Amino acid sequence: MTPMPIISFAKFAAPKKGTAIVLVEEGGALSEAANTCDPGKAFSRAFPVAEFSGKSGSVVEVLAPEGSPLDRLVAIGAGKAADLNDYGWLKLGGAVAAQLRKAGEVTVVVELAGAAAGGAEAAKLAAGMLLRSYSFEKYKTRKDENNGKDAPAKPAKVTIQCADPAGAKKAFSDAQAVADGVMLARDLVNEPANVLGPVEFAARAKELEKLGVEVEVLTEKEMKKLGMGALLGVAQGSVRPPRLVVMRWNGGKSKDKPVAFVGKGVVFDSGGVSIKPAAGMEDMKGDMGGAAAVTGLMHSLAARKAKVNVVGIIGCVENMVDGNAQRPGDIVTSMSGQTIEVLNTDAEGRLVLADALWYCNDRFEPKFMVDLATLTGAIMVALGQQHAGLFSNNDELAERLAAAGTTTQEKLWRMPLGAEYDKLIDSKNADMKNIGGRHGGSITAAQFLQRFVKDTAWAHLDIAGTAMGSQANEINQSWGSGFGVRLLDQLVRDHYEG
Ligand code: BES
Ligand code: MN
Ligand code: ZN
Repeated sequence: MTPMPIISFAKFAAPKKGTAIVLVEEGGALSEAANTCDPGKAFSRAFPVAEFSGKSGSVVEVLAPEGSPLDRLVAIGAGKAADLNDYGWLKLGGAVAAQLRKAGEVTVVVELAGAAAGGAEAAKLAAGMLLRSYSFEKYKTRKDENNGKDAPAKPAKVTIQCADPAGAKKAFSDAQAVADGVMLARDLVNEPANVLGPVEFAARAKELEKLGVEVEVLTEKEMKKLGMGALLGVAQGSVRPPRLVVMRWNGGKSKDKPVAFVGKGVVFDSGGVSIKPAAGMEDMKGDMGGAAAVTGLMHSLAARKAKVNVVGIIGCVENMVDGNAQRPGDIVTSMSGQTIEVLNTDAEGRLVLADALWYCNDRFEPKFMVDLATLTGAIMVALGQQHAGLFSNNDELAERLAAAGTTTQEKLWRMPLGAEYDKLIDSKNADMKNIGGRHGGSITAAQFLQRFVKDTAWAHLDIAGTAMGSQANEINQSWGSGFGVRLLDQLVRDHYEG
């Protein structure tokens, strides 16, 4: 495990120490600056032996030849130059980070033989290095388990050489803001529920005040006064009281309507009286992945001083089962006035979001609302862990989100909504019930949410499959992925700033 590298930018110059890492496009040609690192031509002997041709994901590592001031030379395949989009550069950064060893000095040469690589590209690569280097280790008391030593591992010192180091440094402060938001979201998802209850989550959100975010925390008493019976019904089985957190970043014009993001923050979902099976229940510490993404996003937008007004609302509760827990068959009244028959206490996320969405719409009249929630197991049956489900009442918003998903590779797949599905949650005893039956479980959950958004443009992202436990990849090795932060930062960047 490597700790977070310390990154700086510099002009091209032959490195004098440590490891040199160069990038090689498909075809295998070395750039001028890359050649400077390797006067002994070690690469030109190694490439054919290793059958290295610069394919994306391939790596050649050689010991620096006798007489060189360096220790190691590493060539990383960058693939076809035409495929090197924003995400491609992040991925390359991930591949570079995978080659870092503990401590030591590393020089990364960001130059390609045939394609332009400027400051923006170097900054993306650096952000990819950070994302890849993240790991959740705060509860590992033996710091350096890999080699048996107790001393904490030292970070690598990385110098990124590129044509425009000043431009790279500037672009990196923006890219780093986003990476930090992603890592905040990962930290929150990875944190166990005994440490991160609703009150503690709200306290973590409150820390965003340091970045200029306005943060209000509503207590149980205040939520009662507002009539949030749906959210409070979920919370009543836990000894730990709920919190509704309202975060505001006002980077836009004062008259501009805000855009709004709403997150499910169930710090632990036992299922309540409709209790979950024991196997895998530990994963339900991550049932606040939506709230984590909203909090991480607010961090990112504030840290990069985005020119937009944004509201982030998270409903933090714990779904537990004690003597005061909500029962199947209970009927609760939501803030909207609509009544809900709770037929399954494990369909709790929609109850939390019902009040959070209504409150958000009612108080802020936002341009749009996007909610994020680890809402249903059914979305994983439908889409696996490669796409999050996208539901929306607004085609423009849906298309913009899907496009941001393609750019960031936080991929979305649109799912249907419609009156026939909506009927499935009508209830005999109340305005609606909180489950829709065996079929189309993610869709009936989304229909439920839609009953709390009126005509406001709205999208719901079911991130149950993507927020946690997805396969490790080039830029994420952690259980909690931070899914949604890069996606929504991209959405805001592309359409709602300035
Ligand atoms: N938090 C769960 C959904 C979930 C499952 C997220 C697995 C991540 C991984 C949600 O609250 C839930 O329990 N949903 C039920 C709904 C059902 C009772 C209608 C489900 O998916 O089984
Ligand atoms: Mn549940
Ligand atoms: Zn849940």
